[in-house]
Amino acid sequence: MRMFAPNFELKMELVKTLAEFESVRKQLGDKTVGFVPTMGALHEGHASLIRRAVSECGAVVVSDFVNPTQFNNKNDFDTYPRKVEEDCAFVEPLGVSVVFAPSAAEMYPAGTDYNKKVFDLGGLDKYGEGPRRPGHFNGMAQVVTRLFDIVRPDRAYFGEKDFQQLAIVEYFVRALRYPVSIVRCPIARAADGLALSSRNSLLTPGQRAAAPGIYRSICRAVDMVGKMPVEDAVREVTAMIDGYAGLRTEYVEIINSLTLRPVTDWDEAEHLRLTCAVYAGQVRLIDNIALK
Ligand code: PAJ
Repeated sequence: MRMFAPNFELKMELVKTLAEFESVRKQLGDKTVGFVPTMGALHEGHASLIRRAVSECGAVVVSDFVNPTQFNNKNDFDTYPRKVEEDCAFVEPLGVSVVFAPSAAEMYPAGTDYNKKVFDLGGLDKYGEGPRRPGHFNGMAQVVTRLFDIVRPDRAYFGEKDFQQLAIVEYFVRALRYPVSIVRCPIARAADGLALSSRNSLLTPGQRAAAPGIYRSICRAVDMVGKMPVEDAVREVTAMIDGYAGLRTEYVEIINSLTLRPVTDWDEAEHLRLTCAVYAGQVRLIDNIALK
């Protein structure tokens, strides 16, 4: 890896400004460009998206930017792990062409309205994370559309770990007619089942030991489908998670996988998913699982 230099070779580039990125982007020519947007503190979950992108595209761009406009909690933004240099060392062997790690001033220059735009999210932000993190998905849409405009990818890779985010990105890409294919990637988990997340590094050893209780509990819901009322299944899974010392559910919902609306009946939709948010101390973890 090396810092940006105008004589582009087949080496990974770390670029921090739009001007540098534009120059590197031109040199990618007519290659199929795959894009993996991230907030950094990269782990095997991100790597699974990157590997897929590298296998399907001629060049892969990874963005590494902790987007201030999608944080509704200042403490969460302040404590979010930041490690761009380590991230570069992590992704270079995966075959990434460019890491784009802009400053907030590059992404949201003074005098522009990129951080004020309001998006039509098709009502998909009405449930789940939406009401619990006001402004989060609009901020996410601000940064993802800005990044799409800068990177101009053919394909963009998103993880089902953030299931609602993925559904919302698919929605606004369709609504705004972005010429980019959104690729859904499955959740990567630690051997004990905990969904990999940058926030896991903030867990104390005790919290980390309890956290796999989330996946263990939501897996149980798969066997409950059709065997008891939906609300009883939600109650049982909630109680199971809360039964682990140090874990506290914020919500457990069983939703229609397309509309994201919580269901009251197993037959209400063809595809259902259980989604949840759980606190381990101050650390907020999310997870989900397909039920049918
Ligand atoms: P971040 O949380 O860094 O995640 C970047 C991408 O990696 C997202 O598409 C996310 O779903 C995926 N991902 C994270 N953990 C994963 C796991 N365990 N398995 C599979 N995929 C996983 O999501 C964001 O950043 C931001 O909201 C962003 C889209 C970059 C906009 O700022």
